[in-house]
Amino acid sequence: MHTPARKIRVPDLLLMKERGERIVMLTAYDATMARLFDRAGVDLLLVGDSLGNVILGLDTTIPITMEAMIHHTRAVTRGANRALVVADLPFLSYQVSPEQAIQNAARLFQEGGAAAVKLEGGRPVANTVRRLTEAGLPVMGHVGLTPQHVHYLGGMRQQARSDKAAQELILDALALEDAGAFALVLEAIPDAVAEVVTSRLKIPTIGIGAGPHCNGQVLVSYDALGLFDSFVPPFVKQYAQLGQMVLRAAQNYANDVREGVFPKGAVAGRDRAPVLATL
Ligand code: KIV
Repeated sequence: MHTPARKIRVPDLLLMKERGERIVMLTAYDATMARLFDRAGVDLLLVGDSLGNVILGLDTTIPITMEAMIHHTRAVTRGANRALVVADLPFLSYQVSPEQAIQNAARLFQEGGAAAVKLEGGRPVANTVRRLTEAGLPVMGHVGLTPQHVHYLGGMRQQARSDKAAQELILDALALEDAGAFALVLEAIPDAVAEVVTSRLKIPTIGIGAGPHCNGQVLVSYDALGLFDSFVPPFVKQYAQLGQMVLRAAQNYANDVREGVFPKGAVAGRDRAPVLATL
């Protein structure tokens, strides 16, 4: 396993693509998980706006605010040592104007401590990506299924299925690279389309539900750890069943408390009451 001890920085990702080293990214939302993923050698921690779904219990990512993203980004950066922290720009925090995007992205860097931001969309946001990168703010793009556009897309479904849609996506990807994006998330697109995009771009692609040909992979950590079971996307591999473990642990704790097994001496404690009363 190749996990250099030193901190991962934005230019390293291009080198990793050139060397054929696969990039490992997971979402993180708090310092404890960030610390564990960092120790495990995960290269990139994404403070995804999926926090709306897996942490805040929302149906979509649309209600996520800048304040929520800054709050969680700050926690993740406290836990990250080696991994590069990327923070999502939330819905409508960057589409109004490039100036709005720069101001909001700057908050994720200055207040949250992020090293990069991610935003969703293709050619319509390319100029914004250019302005951000010209201002010195590294940007990761995100095309294919873009959850902030869920209403426009008509649901969370695979994208770029027709030849025409695949061509459009390739043009989006090229425009983002040209605008200065340092990497691109490809979400829920056919493997063959992801393969073409990956071969056409110099910057790395990071896939989620986009097959094996991307330069790296990302998963929502709560999916990968078996913590979030409301809906498990078909492409997810669950590496643990932490949800079941948490459930059993909480049940055992409740039983112990109710039966006086925890804390130790909880039953005997009743007998000590008269002694304490004499103190
Ligand atoms: O918000 C998120 O978790 C994401 C990943 C699905 C890439 O954008």
